[in-house]
Amino acid sequence: MFNAERRAKNETLAEFIKKSACVLKSKYEFGQETAVFEVELLLEWFLKLDINQIRIRAITGEFVTDLFSADALTNFCRIMERRLDGEPLQYITQTAHFYGLALFVGPGVFIPRPETEKLVSLALDFITTSKNTTSGEIVLADLCAGSGAIGLALAQNLKSKVALKILAVEKSADAFKYLKKNCARYSYEHSSSVVIPVLADAGEVELPPCDAVVLNPPYIPPEVELLPLSVRAEPTTALYGLGDDGFEIPHAVVKNAAQSLKPGGCVFLEHFETQSETAAKALPKNGLTNIKHILDLNQRPRFTTGMKPSS
Ligand SMILES: C[S@@+](CC[C@H](N)C(=O)[O-])C[C@H]1O[C@@H](n2cnc3c(N)ncnc32)[C@H](O)[C@@H]1O
Repeated sequence: MFNAERRAKNETLAEFIKKSACVLKSKYEFGQETAVFEVELLLEWFLKLDINQIRIRAITGEFVTDLFSADALTNFCRIMERRLDGEPLQYITQTAHFYGLALFVGPGVFIPRPETEKLVSLALDFITTSKNTTSGEIVLADLCAGSGAIGLALAQNLKSKVALKILAVEKSADAFKYLKKNCARYSYEHSSSVVIPVLADAGEVELPPCDAVVLNPPYIPPEVELLPLSVRAEPTTALYGLGDDGFEIPHAVVKNAAQSLKPGGCVFLEHFETQSETAAKALPKNGLTNIKHILDLNQRPRFTTGMKPSS
């Protein structure tokens, strides 16, 4: 329980942040820094104040009552309760930051993870350097799109360079609501760059010939328990890849992706750290060559790419 309300009325903002962070820390096994940052982010969102303003006001000894009316304090304490009950920070603020974008998220959709930014960078490098994508419209697919993080990040970074069509395919109707909204938020009037949300099974949908397909499907193997409390709030259909090894959905999606590639096109797959051998078999089985494994920031093999031969 977050019984801070009565106490907080007499506290400085700095004390309030520190004590709130301690409660969060004990629940989530965060480090102190992460816990303080989370409280600051919640305050930033709730008070509509820049985080630096909050820090300055804490350092200069302002009191909680300088920032909050009695009602507002009650409401903020309720928000803290939700966080302590396991609701992800991003669901509360309805925003997830990914590759410089602020995406709309909430219950029913996967929260994009920072490690997936690497997948976007790999695809961007390929698209901007590859010969067969320098003329005409580029067609890409983001399969298992969730909030649209990957497709929208690609569009945002390519829109000034090339004419672009990106299909963002998502099967879950709940997640699709967020995808549609994010595509609308980041669509550019008079732009030749468009991200089209498609509600469909990414293993079955008919795709146009693509220059590259980027996939972050559900891939967690069945034996892996979801440890952090907030991960358990996300839909399990976004997490577990099904089958004995968690690769059933990735298999189906890779197959469809490979079939849709133009010659010289590339598939970019994110997977679990134990699945690179499985991926190394699945991609060639679907006609892809030049298989490469890429490590994430923690040196774990989390990405595999493969190309469709040019002729
Ligand atoms: C790990 S999440 C990734 C979401 C997003 N690409 C990202 O990186 O943030 C996997 C997503 O795939 C969706 N999904 C699961 N099975 C699918 C299928 N057969 N076809 C399309 N989408 C699927 C889930 O609903 C979820 O949104």
